[in-house]
Amino acid sequence: MKLSGASLTFAALSLASSISGSPQPGTQSLRPKFDWNRIKYVHAFGDSYSFVQGTRGHANYSFIGDSFNYSFTPQQLLTNEIIFKNTSSEGANWLEFLTGCFEGRPSQCRRQLWDFAFAGADIDASLLPRHEDFAIPLVDQVNQWIQFAASVIPHPPDETLTTWWIGINDTGDSALNATIPDFNAFWETEMTSFFKAVDPRSISDLLCLTPQQAATNHGLRTHLFLNVPPEERSPASLGDPTKAALLKTHIDEFNTILASHVVDFQNANPDTTVLTFDAHSWFNAVLDNPLEFGFTNTTGFCTCADPEGFFWFS
Ligand SMILES: *[C@@H]1O[C@H](CO)[C@@H](O)[C@H](O)[C@H]1NC(C)=O
Ligand SMILES: *[C@@H]1O[C@H](CO)[C@@H](O)[C@H](O)[C@H]1NC(C)=O
Ligand SMILES: *[C@@H]1O[C@H](CO)[C@@H](O)[C@H](O)[C@H]1NC(C)=O
Ligand SMILES: *[C@@H]1O[C@H](CO)[C@@H](O)[C@H](O)[C@H]1NC(C)=O
Ligand SMILES: *[C@@H]1O[C@H](CO)[C@@H](O)[C@H](O)[C@H]1NC(C)=O
Ligand SMILES: *[C@@H]1O[C@H](CO)[C@@H](O)[C@H](O)[C@H]1NC(C)=O
Repeated sequence: MKLSGASLTFAALSLASSISGSPQPGTQSLRPKFDWNRIKYVHAFGDSYSFVQGTRGHANYSFIGDSFNYSFTPQQLLTNEIIFKNTSSEGANWLEFLTGCFEGRPSQCRRQLWDFAFAGADIDASLLPRHEDFAIPLVDQVNQWIQFAASVIPHPPDETLTTWWIGINDTGDSALNATIPDFNAFWETEMTSFFKAVDPRSISDLLCLTPQQAATNHGLRTHLFLNVPPEERSPASLGDPTKAALLKTHIDEFNTILASHVVDFQNANPDTTVLTFDAHSWFNAVLDNPLEFGFTNTTGFCTCADPEGFFWFS
């Protein structure tokens, strides 16, 4: 299911030039102006595609803490170090290539990577059981950031990018879940929970607002959303055509509903800048023309020290 470092490198290099924003005439002045050259801080939320290993993290799952060890002091956060090339692939991941922050204390990087993504994370433990009991789902990553990080790590609006890449485990974990009668309705429920963590103002039911629990209300104003890649083309799915077909349908639905919530979020929040990256199309484009990108094997994987030519790592 996981990507090799080589493919993540590719994704990171393409990212800066492929992000699309959605400027809104008339409201533009309220939005932080996105200028990559000015970005000094990247705050990240998500799953294994985004997580980096920290010296105070759960081994192979996080930069800092886990669900049983949820709090940390400012000092612990500021002295926590990114371990070099220790991600869910054999190499560094896309956020590390994007920021150039590969190891050590994030505060010492030119572009600081503050990564709260947790490997195996779903959106919300009240909707899908945790993949691992120690996992921190996305909504709790945001709460963790608000409680223990927001006042410690700088995030001036014009210099901060926040990334959201989630749904890979949600679609994978729920693919064969027979108790979900209507997946479109289920994805709607998931998005409601997701965007409540990003910003409650995107939610129609104003009475349910919990403003103190949203990232945007704590100053994160430039949001990059990535959609779910075609996991049905990964080695774990290829052996089971029935499951792969189901997964494809679910991922397409998830991405469609995500896109509509991103638009709603943007419209409801004239003071935020929204960027999107269509990871799904990028993966398909590379998987359709692998040789062009240096990949010789897109159907198998090699969990080995040097998976040269392999698109997938596991
Ligand atoms: C919890 O994490 C902190 C640092 O993040 C560490 O100092 C402490 O030893 C951990 N406690 C347990 C019980 O793992
Ligand atoms: C990554 O770090 C974890 C925790 O420190 C360690 O258990 C693991 O062996 C490391 N993996 C690699 C590939 O270096
Ligand atoms: C982390 O992953 C590495 C590589 O897959 C493995 O060798 C190591 O035992 C894992 N560490 C822990 C603590 O599970
Ligand atoms: C979800 O996360 C786990 C890590 O806990 C990973 O091993 C697994 O492959 C992921 N599942 C999917 C469908 O990507
Ligand atoms: C299936 O989905 C339902 C609805 O969200 C959830 O309550 C249940 O725990 C899931 N079952 C499994 C095995 O993941
Ligand atoms: C891809 O790798 C898998 C696993 O090593 C192997 O079984 C398969 O034959 C390879 N395919 C190609 C086209 O090399």
